[in-house]
Amino acid sequence: MKLQLSFVTLILLFATGASASEDFQAEKFHQTSCTGCHDSSVYTRKKRRVNSLPRLESQVRMCDANLGKKLFDDDIHSLTNYLNDNYYHFGK
Ligand code: HEC
Repeated sequence: MKLQLSFVTLILLFATGASASEDFQAEKFHQTSCTGCHDSSVYTRKKRRVNSLPRLESQVRMCDANLGKKLFDDDIHSLTNYLNDNYYHFGK
């Protein structure tokens, strides 16, 4: 019985972890997954295409779609904020 209970707890942990993805780390994810096609210099080049926060978010979504990672909205947002804080600096 005790065993069964902890099994249920484990499943619950997994379920909540997956939807909230609290351990998503934007910097780490970016380093491992986002530097395959371009490095971070595209964010600071003179003719960069992204010129607002909403456009940054849709670009992140597009690149995520190319990657096939299917990130959750929360993760897209932290990735967008990470890029904005470090490279783009758009006002919020
Ligand atoms: C499948 C290849 C590929 C991967 C992987 C990829 N990107 Fe991109 N990304 C592109 C291409 C192509 C462009 C457009 C470059 C250009 O216009 O010269 C681009 C452009 C961008 C830009 C806009 C740069 C600008 O001009 O302001 C951002 C922001 C960006 N990517 C973020 C990301 C993030 C975040 C990830 C990881 C989730 C990622 N990319 C992974 C292909 C990729």
